[in-house]
Amino acid sequence: MALMLIMLLLLIFMLPFSISAAEDAFIGVNIGTDLSDMPTPTETVALLKAQSIQHVRLFDADRALLLALANTGIRVTISVPNDQILGIGQSNATAANWVSRNVIAHVPATNITSIAVGSEVLTTLSNAAPILVSAMKFIHSALVAANLDGQIKVSTPHSSSIILDSFPPSQAFFNRTWNPVMVPLLNFLQSTGSYLMFNVYPYYDYQQSNGVIPLDYALFRPLPPNKEAVDSNTLLHYTNVFDAVVDAAYFAMSDLNFTNIPIVVTESGWPSKGDSSESDATIDNANTYNSNLIRHVLNNTGTPKHPGIAVSTFIYELYNEDLRSGEVSEKNWGLFYADGEPVYTLHLAGAGVIFANDTTNQTFCVTKSNADTKMLQAALDWACGPGKVDCSPLLQGQPCYEPDNVVAHAAYAFNAYYQKMAKSPGTCDFKGVAVITTTDPSHGSCVFPGSHGKNRTRINGTSLAPSNSTSSGCLSQHNYNGGYFTNSMILIVLLLSAVVM
Ligand SMILES: *[C@@H]1O[C@H](CO)[C@@H](O)[C@H](O)[C@H]1NC(C)=O
Ligand SMILES: *[C@@H]1O[C@H](CO)[C@@H](O)[C@H](O)[C@H]1NC(C)=O
Ligand SMILES: *[C@@H]1O[C@H](CO)[C@@H](O)[C@H](O)[C@H]1NC(C)=O
Ligand SMILES: *[C@@H]1O[C@H](CO)[C@@H](O)[C@H](O)[C@H]1NC(C)=O
Ligand SMILES: *[C@@H]1O[C@H](CO)[C@@H](O)[C@H](O)[C@H]1NC(C)=O
Ligand SMILES: *[C@@H]1O[C@H](CO)[C@@H](O)[C@H](O)[C@H]1NC(C)=O
Ligand SMILES: *[C@@H]1O[C@H](CO)[C@@H](O)[C@H](O)[C@H]1NC(C)=O
Ligand SMILES: *[C@@H]1O[C@H](CO)[C@@H](O)[C@H](O)[C@H]1NC(C)=O
Ligand SMILES: *[C@@H]1O[C@H](CO)[C@@H](O)[C@H](O)[C@H]1NC(C)=O
Repeated sequence: MALMLIMLLLLIFMLPFSISAAEDAFIGVNIGTDLSDMPTPTETVALLKAQSIQHVRLFDADRALLLALANTGIRVTISVPNDQILGIGQSNATAANWVSRNVIAHVPATNITSIAVGSEVLTTLSNAAPILVSAMKFIHSALVAANLDGQIKVSTPHSSSIILDSFPPSQAFFNRTWNPVMVPLLNFLQSTGSYLMFNVYPYYDYQQSNGVIPLDYALFRPLPPNKEAVDSNTLLHYTNVFDAVVDAAYFAMSDLNFTNIPIVVTESGWPSKGDSSESDATIDNANTYNSNLIRHVLNNTGTPKHPGIAVSTFIYELYNEDLRSGEVSEKNWGLFYADGEPVYTLHLAGAGVIFANDTTNQTFCVTKSNADTKMLQAALDWACGPGKVDCSPLLQGQPCYEPDNVVAHAAYAFNAYYQKMAKSPGTCDFKGVAVITTTDPSHGSCVFPGSHGKNRTRINGTSLAPSNSTSSGCLSQHNYNGGYFTNSMILIVLLLSAVVM
């Protein structure tokens, strides 16, 4: 028996696999824009830089944000919103026009590295499915015509619910209803050297499993070896849901005879807050999931099926999006609030290449003592005007009106600006009348932005902080097919009990 196992393992590891392991995996972040006080493109880019975020995905191709991303070195995935797919998939000219306006106009200053054509089209916009591959091909031919196809890849993000029987991963296959789309789609990805874009949400898998999936397994926490899920066909051990779902995608592709298409996870994350029915949407779980995910990805661990093969991943998402409809959790996937304050501080010791430690940089910007009041007044006017700080808390009757003098008001406005700019160097100067301090200047009910007093009365001063820049595209709705995990559940139970025996 033991000998047979060894032979089997050897066989598995000797199977040829041609995905190149040369590239290191990266962590990126999705930027959704459904916020009532969406930061300006300049503020967003300041936050990305301060956090060393080098890869982002937009759900559209917002011109202002693409301009702000120019010459930053940040790699950008842009998207064709779902509501433009039908037009593009039916007209080569429309596609060429889209590429000209949204790509050619920005490269090379803005480093656009891929185009996501739609978002979860098969599961959210099935009437566009028949032209999805045409849309991708048309976009690609426009890139070829501009000689940009080498540096810009074309793909389309899928919901993991298009995979059926995803556990054990070796039995996974794409919902066969979609084979007429998936086969040409995978052919296209293969022939253009692109990759499968895939959204992986262990949070939903866990939630829908009715307790069958242990929370630790979803959160990448260590499991006792006898609790690890084992794929009985491959004998591969799975220590977390993320790997199992990614491997299911590899197996589903090989079920259609495609064995050399890499995977990029276009969305993964965990909400930090939910309503009473979402008790596992907590700050602790969100922090644990995202911290472990980042370490796992950056370690180039790969998956059990393809160890060491990069699975680059975009975290969902940069900001909490308060305008998103649905459950409370839907508004709370972000790593940051709109003011640039982290929702939580990731535990990333040993993975300091992203998310700079200044998430813990508790500094504030205030007025320098003995500063000239005329200069303070001018700086205050600038901050509340062109600087686009929300100065409404300084109005009479509002929490920061008292003490009503230019020193106190300027301190509030300087600090609000500094926090909005993610505390980046040079943003606490104001012609020399401002200074950085580590003392929280909040007083009474006047809470300064960046204060960890967490007495964040969210003020809505939309008129003072216009966000003219971003039109929210068609964000993926997390439409998870309730039945998706039913088969798998039974198998996991069987497997877990088999291993325990
Ligand atoms: C753009 O991104 C690609 C992929 O990461 C990289 O190889 C290239 O050097 C970048 N170009 C610039 C100008 O930064
Ligand atoms: C679409 O346009 C490209 C040039 O942008 C051209 O190379 C390609 O042949 C066209 N395809 C079709 C189907 O017309
Ligand atoms: C497969 O996809 C079709 C079309 O969306 C859907 O009607 C069907 O329920 C799916 N099958 C399963 C088992 O989820
Ligand atoms: C995959 O390849 C095998 C062996 O060549 C063949 O029998 C099978 O029909 C192929 N499957 C598909 C979906 O093309
Ligand atoms: C990183 O990878 C090494 C092997 O490549 C492995 O031993 C280690 O456990 C991994 N660490 C994490 C945090 O995944
Ligand atoms: C971040 O903080 C940790 C722990 O304090 C430290 O080990 C690490 O070197 C820091 N990383 C950076 C980039 O400053
Ligand atoms: C915090 O940020 C300010 C502004 O960038 C900087 O001057 C200061 O050194 C930082 N402190 C730490 C501990 O990183
Ligand atoms: C929050 O602010 C209110 C006044 O608006 C104050 O009464 C309360 O003590 C503050 N709470 C904390 C934790 O600072
Ligand atoms: C908002 O955008 C529109 C169209 O892009 C532009 O005409 C207008 O000047 C902008 N307004 C502000 C306040 O930037």
